[in-house]
Amino acid sequence: MYEIVSKKDLSSDIHLLEIKAPMIAKRAKAGQFIMLMVDDKGERIPLTMADWNSEKGTVTIIELEAGKTTKQLGMLKVGDKLRSIVGPLGMETELENHGTVVCIGGGIGIALMYPVVRALKQAGNEIISIMGSKTASTMILEEEISAVSDVIHICTDDGTKGHHGFVSDILKQMLDEKKPIDMVYAVGPIIMMKVISDITRPFGVHTVVSLNPIMVDGTGMCGSCRVSIDGKTKFACVDGPEFDGHKVDFKLLIERNRRYLEEEKRSLEKFDKEVQ
Ligand SMILES: Cc1cc2nc3c(=O)[nH]c(=O)nc-3n(C[C@H](O)[C@H](O)[C@H](O)COP(=O)(O)OP(=O)(O)OC[C@H]3O[C@@H](n4cnc5c(N)ncnc54)[C@H](O)[C@@H]3O)c2cc1C
Ligand code: FES
Repeated sequence: MYEIVSKKDLSSDIHLLEIKAPMIAKRAKAGQFIMLMVDDKGERIPLTMADWNSEKGTVTIIELEAGKTTKQLGMLKVGDKLRSIVGPLGMETELENHGTVVCIGGGIGIALMYPVVRALKQAGNEIISIMGSKTASTMILEEEISAVSDVIHICTDDGTKGHHGFVSDILKQMLDEKKPIDMVYAVGPIIMMKVISDITRPFGVHTVVSLNPIMVDGTGMCGSCRVSIDGKTKFACVDGPEFDGHKVDFKLLIERNRRYLEEEKRSLEKFDKEVQ
């Protein structure tokens, strides 16, 4: 059993949980994730390790209430225990000195962006971070990411903070102004990663995206996280989750991520009735 040792509500539906998991904390690397089960009856869900502390033996996750399991997780308190955590899973981020890297995070994707930005900075890169959220109150980790970036841009869809518009507007402007960019790293909603990849393609800028297909086992056995990369089938949980954005079939990913919408809706409605 994995105990929650601290909890912070970053907004009404985004929660940071620090969980005792010493074996995982010891081996965690930027870009990797865990598969978590809240209780015996629940499903397994993939969550990025936003941080870890090998001395304390803890891993930190930041979760957005998107459906039944993430809502249930958000209701837990310090001292509660999780049924299981498996990890670290997935390939770690390639940490080279590329030069100038633009790191882009949207919404809850910023939770994954943080350890990647930190590690790329440690590898000697100049980091320009672009962070976007719907509104100012749902912007997470601004201070933390600012501390490991050379330049930071904030965007909100409603204009309540920073640039009124999308993260892609800032990137497009930088490319049009011919700012030297050696690599772009993007994580967030699928449509955001697609738009970013479409923008960088004509400029020939290497673009890495962290994909979030529906995962079931997280170990390459079930095929649920199947994605098409350059026409070849890959499993995001073992071959990814990071891939070359210019080679991803985003249309297929969007279609596949919608395949359980009806079941997800029913499961949340049932859970809401049970907890009322
Ligand atoms: C590698 C990876 C890392 C992730 N990291 C984070 C994170 O750090 N924080 C965070 O809040 N979320 C993260 N997610 C997304 C998170 O796993 C889903 O929001 C969660 O599984 C939804 O479960 P639910 O029961 O609450 O909602 P559901 O009702 O099951 O689904 C709500 C939405 O989430 C998507 N989803 C459902 N099941 C999965 C699944 N097993 N895997 C991926 N997406 C799913 C569906 O497309 C749906 O639109 C990550 C996903 C992946 C693949
Ligand atoms: S989640 Fe089962 S193969 Fe990737």
